[in-house]
Amino acid sequence: MTLPSPIAGPGAEERSSDSALAALLVRVTPLTPRCSVSEAGERFLDPANAALLSLPVVEAGRVLGCITRHELMLRVYMQPYGRELHGRRSVTTLMDTQPLRLPIDSSIEAAGQLIGQQLRRPITEDFVVLGTDGRYVGMGIVLDVLRALEVKVGQHSQELEAAYQRLKASQHRLVQSEKLAALGQLVAGLAHEINTPLGYVQNNLEMTRDLLPAAAEYVGAASSLRAAVVTDETTQQQVLRLDEASPEFDPSLFGELSGLLDDALHGVAQIADLVANLKDFSRVDAAHADAVDLHGLIDAALRIGGHLLRKRNIQVQCRYGELPALRCAPAQINQVLLNLISNAAQAIDHDHGCIVIRTQVLGGYALVGVQDNGRGIPADVLPRIFEPFFTTKPVGQGTGLGLSICQQIVQAHGGRIAATSTPTSGTRFVIALPLAGATPQVAS
Ligand SMILES: Nc1ncnc2c1ncn2[C@@H]1O[C@H](COP(=O)(O)OP(=O)(O)OP(=O)(O)O)[C@@H](O)[C@H]1O
Ligand SMILES: [Mg+2]
Repeated sequence: MTLPSPIAGPGAEERSSDSALAALLVRVTPLTPRCSVSEAGERFLDPANAALLSLPVVEAGRVLGCITRHELMLRVYMQPYGRELHGRRSVTTLMDTQPLRLPIDSSIEAAGQLIGQQLRRPITEDFVVLGTDGRYVGMGIVLDVLRALEVKVGQHSQELEAAYQRLKASQHRLVQSEKLAALGQLVAGLAHEINTPLGYVQNNLEMTRDLLPAAAEYVGAASSLRAAVVTDETTQQQVLRLDEASPEFDPSLFGELSGLLDDALHGVAQIADLVANLKDFSRVDAAHADAVDLHGLIDAALRIGGHLLRKRNIQVQCRYGELPALRCAPAQINQVLLNLISNAAQAIDHDHGCIVIRTQVLGGYALVGVQDNGRGIPADVLPRIFEPFFTTKPVGQGTGLGLSICQQIVQAHGGRIAATSTPTSGTRFVIALPLAGATPQVAS
């Protein structure tokens, strides 16, 4: 038999309240004090009241008490001649005059608390729901409250779980930025240490190069003098002794020496640039935000990383779209691009390697895509690649900081970085930098 649902929609009074208890209200036509015990028994047999443990006795809207199924069974139906003795008496003779009453605007939690405090075991009754004016509105079923509480507890534990996950994520970010800050200090110290000797090596090299033309001229003059004096016999013998004592010296070597010094100076200038970049990266010098041409930065990163690409014979295709000048810290964005290009090159272990770099504007962002046809990233590794110190490279080959630095820099610019990969056929990184208000949030 299908029982009609005892839960009815809220009436006018309870509609005014959106409390959870109003949603559980069971509309029950109450017994009056004139009802007999037998009538009460019949009402309990009505399928519409099958879910109720107690029925209210109400007069003129005021609740006089409740009669419970349990009481009827014990005191009437299970007693010899119980029905004959009590059946015709007023229901008020068996009712509990202090039933549990709850205002309709109670929350489920408050209802649960009150039920827990006031009901005794075994649970033999439900509770009366009163309107804001203290008049009878309907009944509430204890089991419904327990079920609603269970749902709430479930929701709370989901919220707690979500809050815990958020907390874990922010703790992770904190650890990341602490590690990066420590690394930044290390790099700053290193840059400082390198800078001092670099300065005087550069200076000495320049001075040596400046002295070379004079030395070359001097050696040239000495050589002419030698040629002029070889006719004199005594001087000739001395010159021969000099020739024997010193290795053969070709003054034209000065030209080569000058070239070598030029190369050395170029190398030193590159190291100086690198130190400047390190300083920028470690934010010792305030990272300056300029309006720059992103394509120029990509070209520069390709030039710096050129040796990696040539070594592996990798072809690079630049498919540039229209991009406006972008406000960013150029040295840092350069660093990001260089890391992505190095990773792409290092992921290619065949001889038809290709890196495609695309740019475009989309939804207020400048997008730069770096796609390779390398070995790809397995699905279980992909979620970890931005973690600081995560690397799949052999010990000594990768620090695992490249991508975490990229993420840090891109996020400081108000942008995002993401990767998609198909293992064995390649990986695509995309960075999105906001066109407007892209001032880097540089932490000191
Ligand atoms: N283009 C790519 N193709 C395949 N795997 C990649 C690619 N880019 C990154 N990875 C994976 O992500 C890991 C982390 O990269 P990340 O740049 O942070 O560190 P790394 O390259 O290992 O070390 P480092 O940058 O210090 O040389 C790499 O070890 C590699 O497994
Ligand atoms: Mg890397």
